[in-house]
Amino acid sequence: MILKTPPMGWNTWNTFGENINDRLIRETADVMAESGLLEAGYEYLVIDDCWSERDRDPETGKIVPDREKFPEGMRAVSDYVHSKGLKFGMYSCAGVRTCANYPGSFGHEYLDAETFAEFGCDYLKYDYCFKPQNFDGELLYRRMGLALRSCGRDIVFSMCSWGSDDVWSWARSAGAHLYRSTGDIEDSFKSFRDIALSQLPKLASSASGCWNDIDMLTCGMYGDGNVGTESGCTDTEYAAEFALWCLMGAPLMLGCDLRKMSGATKKLVLNPELIKIDQDPECRPPQCLPWGSDMQRFVLFRHLAGGDYAIGFFNMCDREAGVPVYLEQLGIPLHSGYGLKLTDLFTGEELPARQEILMPKVPAHGCRVYRAGMVKVK
Ligand code: GLA
Repeated sequence: MILKTPPMGWNTWNTFGENINDRLIRETADVMAESGLLEAGYEYLVIDDCWSERDRDPETGKIVPDREKFPEGMRAVSDYVHSKGLKFGMYSCAGVRTCANYPGSFGHEYLDAETFAEFGCDYLKYDYCFKPQNFDGELLYRRMGLALRSCGRDIVFSMCSWGSDDVWSWARSAGAHLYRSTGDIEDSFKSFRDIALSQLPKLASSASGCWNDIDMLTCGMYGDGNVGTESGCTDTEYAAEFALWCLMGAPLMLGCDLRKMSGATKKLVLNPELIKIDQDPECRPPQCLPWGSDMQRFVLFRHLAGGDYAIGFFNMCDREAGVPVYLEQLGIPLHSGYGLKLTDLFTGEELPARQEILMPKVPAHGCRVYRAGMVKVK
């Protein structure tokens, strides 16, 4: 199967960790279907770690869903999710145990792929804890990649080896549709900034069919949940996080409690113009233009299908600042007679054509993002 644009959806881990159950999944499916999320493109509902019994069934060798958390079994849950028009995702691990110490798929890859197909699974996140030392990680991912392809159901293969072993160089050939390239995100400004920036030099490997996954979003968590921090982030910081993910063409997997989304969170993650940039069919990575050497202020400039551009100004400093870029740096010298006209993707404001330099004022830890069109000025 082919994933032409980065997957979008929701994952249990960031907020709920091990506190997952049938009811949470059904309620979340309802919200996704009814609040405009599905319509906006968020189609995968993914159950992360901690969904199974602590041990495999001794007779069949299969992984069994936790009987208390999922008393009706997993097929009933996936049928419900599918009945809402969503796709259903699950989780396992290339090692002998998962990261939270439930059964992993090592040595059971083909059986488990069949089990996930029986569950009606459309997406498998595949982690990297407890890998036997004498086994090559790449081989284990190839194994599950093949097992999924032969299980009789189309299942997105979401590799999660945190960037180890230069994963960007072989994930595509191992059958992955997306590959995690970073350690686990936390709900803090510093965490999302460091994660995103660490991947800027590697974005050329992320392309249609196999995406660089810089982890689930924390937008809207405000410090609650499983990867929460005391302070969480402000709305300005969440806006910068979401915009960074979109400009980088990253998978958009939400991680907050969708049942309790604030108005600001909803508006942000449903921003159709930002989503359009993330899902742009030309799938080009952005060019990064730093101001100064410390990446505290930088501009991301991305070619879009149809001839427009996305341009994001990010200010990681602790106070408001102008973030400058010379059009000359983008390849539009003054003598060309061309300039850029901009539409602000948060406010809809249209700015007349500019030449020479763009330097919006950007709030601390924030961003300004525009859709830009090239126009002849004189
Ligand atoms: C790892 C992954 C996380 C999450 C947990 C579950 O840490 O990177 O995204 O899946 O395992 O235990």
